Amino acid sequence: MQKQVGIIGAGLSGLIACKYIKAKGFHPIVFEATNTIGGIWTKTLNSTILQTPKVMYQFSDFPWPSSVTQDFPDHNQVLNYIKEYAQHFDLIKHIKFNTRVEGIEYQGPSMEEIQAWHLWNGTGEAFNTKGKWKVSVTDTQKDSNSSIEVYTLEFVILCIGRFSDVPNIPEFPSNKGPEVFGGEVIHSMEYASMDSKTATEFIKGKQVTVVGFQKSALDTAMECSTVNGVDHPCRVLYKTEHWILPDYLPWGIPLAYLYLNRFAELMVHKPGESLFLSFIATLLAPLRWVFSKFVESYIDRKLGLSKVGMVPSHSFHREINNCLISTVPEKFFDKVEEGSIVLKKAPRFWFCKEGVVVDGEASPLKTDLVILATGFKGDIKLRNIFVSPTFQNLILGSPNSALPLYRECIQPEIPQVAVIGFSESAANLYTSEMRCRWVAELLDGTFKLPSIQEMKKDITKWDQYMKTYSRHYYRRSCIAALHIWYNDQLCKDMGWNHRRKKGILSELFQPYGPLDYSF
Ligand SMILES: Cc1cc2nc3c(=O)[nH]c(=O)nc-3n(C[C@H](O)[C@H](O)[C@H](O)COP(=O)(O)OP(=O)(O)OC[C@H]3O[C@@H](n4cnc5c(N)ncnc54)[C@H](O)[C@@H]3O)c2cc1C
Ligand SMILES: NC(=O)c1ccc[n+]([C@@H]2O[C@H](COP(=O)([O-])OP(=O)(O)OC[C@H]3O[C@@H](n4cnc5c(N)ncnc54)[C@H](OP(=O)(O)O)[C@@H]3O)[C@@H](O)[C@H]2O)c1
Repeated sequence: MQKQVGIIGAGLSGLIACKYIKAKGFHPIVFEATNTIGGIWTKTLNSTILQTPKVMYQFSDFPWPSSVTQDFPDHNQVLNYIKEYAQHFDLIKHIKFNTRVEGIEYQGPSMEEIQAWHLWNGTGEAFNTKGKWKVSVTDTQKDSNSSIEVYTLEFVILCIGRFSDVPNIPEFPSNKGPEVFGGEVIHSMEYASMDSKTATEFIKGKQVTVVGFQKSALDTAMECSTVNGVDHPCRVLYKTEHWILPDYLPWGIPLAYLYLNRFAELMVHKPGESLFLSFIATLLAPLRWVFSKFVESYIDRKLGLSKVGMVPSHSFHREINNCLISTVPEKFFDKVEEGSIVLKKAPRFWFCKEGVVVDGEASPLKTDLVILATGFKGDIKLRNIFVSPTFQNLILGSPNSALPLYRECIQPEIPQVAVIGFSESAANLYTSEMRCRWVAELLDGTFKLPSIQEMKKDITKWDQYMKTYSRHYYRRSCIAALHIWYNDQLCKDMGWNHRRKKGILSELFQPYGPLDYSF
């Protein structure tokens, strides 16, 4: 009988997992809490467009339709592309819609036995006849007391997404939180879930304060300023200045040639690198600085960051390493100049009845509405899916480390589970696809995992890399600046040739993207 593999989530990652699992002859069951596919692409701001060039954000075996001519398609086009993929590979029939997974519980060897294993899952292989996962689901269309249905599955792939459902809400001293504020406080995800008309009505005529300075904050502020203009300027409170991108062509050179080829990766110390590569990375460090300055000077010139006191104290290279490479909405700084967007640095702030108090300032900033564009707690979302407190702790790992996932997919001490879509890159579709292919090969028995000790050592090396280059953003688990090195490891595990280009010059200088891994 075909082995049953549960996939939780029918966003991009879940659909890709379904496609590759099915291709290997397994029986996938996809549980999706909502009534549709596409995940985050079903609930974005009206103004959301792809911020990764579409050539980097495409399936390796299903190109964008020729009717989509823009380099940065809008959210409807992205969603249609995902739907066409699902139809083309006949994935819809595997999905159970309106089915929320409330928790997954392992049934099999005891925790003591698992902890004594030298190999993941006892053998280093994906399946174990003694172990199964009980997946408890509820029907989201019925009331909350509706009965729980339980599925017993041989392997579970968690594709629940990291940028939804569990918002990151800043903490405030007691009596200084949103509860004392006379106005309204929402998270950007609530604003994003409104349709265009409702969103416009909601912010119209209000003094809005947006907190954050990443993509959600920039887009939200842009929408508010468009609706309210200079009469009710939108205030943006930020902690950290960031290198936001006006486009991907600094001084006419495609950014991918500076950061997404093997040559660029030579400038970075890599986890598990040889002495030779370490020497090269040290030798080339000054060039890394030059590349960074090259891009920074372009951004400053194009956006006028110096004029508005918004030049970050860290390098552009750090931003790539943090996966914080937001594109700035067109004319954003024109709005700053005309006064319909007001930028204000506020490393610490709290609430009072009339609005927001910025640390060090006597009078409050009067506000009707605060939109917290402060990101998400994807790690907590992942933790909550496990019923066992032991597995909950194992998946989170130490708060002082990146999430302990081997190849960014497998927790060495949690059997028969893989995670797709937690660790970030510059082009997340392509990254999820590579990982799904790797997991499908693991399930198919193409390779076994190394010992738990070896996996932990590898995880530690990646953790050190992330701390070196991403500093306090290490929990984002970003592989953007080493995506080729990372993919090389997946390719080697799967027995593929990891050098995908023709000729040494192309191999060194041509950017790598999804089509390099198509067959
Ligand atoms: C607004 C926005 C724009 C983005 N733009 C880009 C971009 O331009 N380029 C880029 O590279 N990345 C972008 N990203 C990152 C983006 O997260 C990925 O590109 C990708 O779409 C994520 O897909 P996913 O399937 O991993 O997660 P999601 O899209 O979040 O899908 C997760 C799915 O799991 C379901 N689910 C969750 N929990 C449960 C449960 N317990 N039971 C059942 N179902 C569950 C959800 O309903 C959802 O359908 C963007 C993110 C956001 C928020
Ligand atoms: N394609 C698109 O158009 C699009 C649109 C929206 C989102 N996205 C993607 O979705 C993901 C999430 O983006 P996001 O902007 O929602 O979240 P994010 O990237 O996590 O950014 C969160 C922002 O909130 C700030 N912040 C966090 N905690 C704070 C606190 N306690 N006080 C004040 N500020 C705080 C952060 O500041 P610090 O940096 O100082 O910590 C940062 O500016 C990203 O991958 C993004 O690229 C893409």
